[in-house]
Amino acid sequence: KETQKIRASLLDWYDHNQRDLPWRRITQTKETSFKEEEEERRAYGVWVSEVMLQQTRVQTVIDYYNRWMLKWPTLHHLAQASLEEVNEMWAGLGYYRRARFLLEVNLCGKLDIMVMFTGDHYLLSFSGIVDVIAPMGAKMIVAGGDGFPKIVSSLRKVPGIGDYTAGAIASIAFKEVVPVVDGNVIRVLARLKAISANPKDKVTIKKFWKLAAQLVDPHRPGDFNQSLMELGATLCTPVNPSCSSCPVSGQCRALTNSKLDKLVLITDY
Ligand code: ADE
Repeated sequence: KETQKIRASLLDWYDHNQRDLPWRRITQTKETSFKEEEEERRAYGVWVSEVMLQQTRVQTVIDYYNRWMLKWPTLHHLAQASLEEVNEMWAGLGYYRRARFLLEVNLCGKLDIMVMFTGDHYLLSFSGIVDVIAPMGAKMIVAGGDGFPKIVSSLRKVPGIGDYTAGAIASIAFKEVVPVVDGNVIRVLARLKAISANPKDKVTIKKFWKLAAQLVDPHRPGDFNQSLMELGATLCTPVNPSCSSCPVSGQCRALTNSKLDKLVLITDY
């Protein structure tokens, strides 16, 4: 019952207060003939934006995201890009490994192969015999012909897609009922349930994935996950959270236990 109240309050708040971000504008049409194409466009947008957002603030990411999408509007366009172009586009965002992961998607998930990086291309070796010189990746999803991986277990096989990005793509683009947990979500849930948390501790992180999995709304998993992230980014901030505007302040055990300050310190990072 409390879970249902939390879900309803968060979704209603998100519907009325979400920030207008470019990757949220990829609309979904009702016509089934376009459904797959739209899902793929959304998945691609979520992928690019979530990877960019991993170490960079939303305000900075918006410009990078828009430029990226102008240059490579779909996964198919990205598949034609060179690593140099991608790095150039990424300049200033840092952590170039992240950009490479967007381009390089190898076939490890499908075949038992070994991958070697020679500096500018990959050698795929089957049972020790170098067989294919694999061009870089988004190309691989395209060439694979199965389209964008749609569920967490397939997404996780893509190098560079971890639990977080897989959960975001699967829930937001494909409506799989799975949670997404990042630092913001840990802080929100730690306060909501008055659980002390060190967001860098593996056991703690696992606990919060479990908690988030119980809480995620079965009908609108993507919006629910984004509402938690949005709340953490805008109201439920590390210091001076805006509890008076919070849609779930009535359910927040940290607030009712006056533990907020303590939990702020423990969960801030
Ligand atoms: N931070 C990272 N990803 C986000 C998302 N999808 N919504 C809100 N904040 C985010």
